[in-house]
Amino acid sequence: MCGIVSYIGPKQAYPLLINGLKRLEYRGYDSSGIALINNDGLCVYKSKGKIADLEENVKNKNIEGTIGIAHTRWATHGEPNNVNAHPHFNETMDLALVHNGIIENYDTLKVMLKKNGYHFQTETDSEVLVQLIDFMRKKPRTNLLKAVQLALASVVGAYAIVLLDKNNPNQLIAARKSSPLVIGIGDNEYFVGSDATPFLDFTKKVIYVGDEEVVVIPRRGDIMITTLDNTKVDPIVQHIEMDITALEKGGFDHFMLKEIYEQPESIMDTMRGRINVEDCYLQLGGIMDYKEKLINAKRIIIVACGTSWHAGLLGEYLIENLARIPVEVEYASEFRYRNAPIFADDIVIAISQSGETADTLAAIELAKKKGATVLGICNVVGSSIARATNAGSYTHAGQEIGVASTKAFTSQVTLLILMSLMIADGKGILEKNQKKALIQELMRIPEKIRKVLEKAPEIQRMSEVFTFARNFLYLGRAYNYPVAMEGALKLKEISYIHAEGYPSAEMKHGPIALIDKETPVVFIATTPSNHQKNISNIQEIKARQGRVISIILEGDEEIKRLSDFYIEIPDTEEEFTPLISVVPLQLIAYYIAVARKCNVDQPRNLAKSVTVE
Ligand code: G6P
Repeated sequence: MCGIVSYIGPKQAYPLLINGLKRLEYRGYDSSGIALINNDGLCVYKSKGKIADLEENVKNKNIEGTIGIAHTRWATHGEPNNVNAHPHFNETMDLALVHNGIIENYDTLKVMLKKNGYHFQTETDSEVLVQLIDFMRKKPRTNLLKAVQLALASVVGAYAIVLLDKNNPNQLIAARKSSPLVIGIGDNEYFVGSDATPFLDFTKKVIYVGDEEVVVIPRRGDIMITTLDNTKVDPIVQHIEMDITALEKGGFDHFMLKEIYEQPESIMDTMRGRINVEDCYLQLGGIMDYKEKLINAKRIIIVACGTSWHAGLLGEYLIENLARIPVEVEYASEFRYRNAPIFADDIVIAISQSGETADTLAAIELAKKKGATVLGICNVVGSSIARATNAGSYTHAGQEIGVASTKAFTSQVTLLILMSLMIADGKGILEKNQKKALIQELMRIPEKIRKVLEKAPEIQRMSEVFTFARNFLYLGRAYNYPVAMEGALKLKEISYIHAEGYPSAEMKHGPIALIDKETPVVFIATTPSNHQKNISNIQEIKARQGRVISIILEGDEEIKRLSDFYIEIPDTEEEFTPLISVVPLQLIAYYIAVARKCNVDQPRNLAKSVTVE
């Protein structure tokens, strides 16, 4: 969701900014823009659509300049078009600003500015911010830094901004609150990004800008960080470990497919160093200090959004079943507003791939305010959520570029399995043999996923039959119910086909009314303990002429006979089934979306990292 990249240094800024924007494409956007300072003064170019449209737009224009700011916009206020795209500027066109986040009181500020003679060209909240900075700058003894501090102090909402001043081509000003912003320190040059991906080729030395901090970035010399009331802050320089090759497609047609195929390795990476089969050892280093608290917890609350919420639901099944602690799973967006009782002895686990989801962050802040212990399960190292929680464990799934989450999900589930086993072990619930058997089986999961991936051609052929379906139902029981929801979400996200995920037994309380010969039903029937019940449900679907695509355990002849199509997957412990049964669902969604010629990696209207409410 919205991406920022900026540059100041000796090199030409335009190619760096364009490549940086391309690296941020995965976040989701609908327009883009760039501002540079050169002999023509402040040059601003903006285009609706893809970055390629922006490149087309700037052909034969002056793109010189060694300082610049650039942006991909995901529309919140005002439709996606050339005017509403960033950068925005003040009326005299000497300040240009890129902004991520939402200024909640922009209406009030706009009224005040209009009263003071300001005119507006766009419907955006971001234009209000740059005009507000201009307004503040006119106060006595106020330089640009002070104007930014004053403007941001009167703003309610979230922001990550970078500001360019036509009259000072030797300085950028950046600031942030609740929206991520990171500064890259190169060789006599600085970069600014919503994350580090735009400048990874040049530096791995970064500074994460803190909440309500303003940074002056000079062409030469050290950066200066202050708070909004002008107190100096010491910069903390960190080194990030991110592999540049992980950003390439590696021979796959789409990042999503590459990431689906990476799951055997990404799951291994989640487990690496945390379990040892021989000694039956199982440890999550990041949350060691909270292990006792977890073992003695009376209640665990899981907060998350989207796919991470589905992983959270599996977390509930796992922790309750294995570790016998009551768990509640909340949409972060609901939790933050519904005045739920939260107690100091509650443990809240926040799950997030990006670590930047605004609703999840807000839920964390609320839980902390109520005195609860907050642990994080994040993929992106150093992300806002990783820093906001008391402690946490990284999933180590590697960078996920496809907007529809795949490998991050299976890594989250793997981590929740490890956490459940660790708590169960700590509580003395698991017999040593039982624990060993579970750990051994967990280590076999990557190989079993590889076996499912070998079926990709067969899954592709089957999926293409359903290219033009308008509705899909996904049904599953127990551990496969969250998987059904995740399968439906994948299909919705990337193929734009309406899909619902339901617990199989709930079918008769509503969804059964939808079933006819036009409605494919994906039935995940891989839990032996419910075998007979699954058969009855499938028969109910067939009796209404529904078309059944079943996900079954290898050799399940009975369900095979009843199904129109089936995909066999290897057997495992029921607790681990989701790690395998979700893979064919990811592939079904992928191949249907490809057959429908959809933009798989950047589906319309969606963003990878949702940094606004
Ligand atoms: C967006 C993404 C989803 C993701 C959700 C939560 O909606 O498109 O794929 O599941 O945000 O994101 P998080 O980074 O917190 O897991």
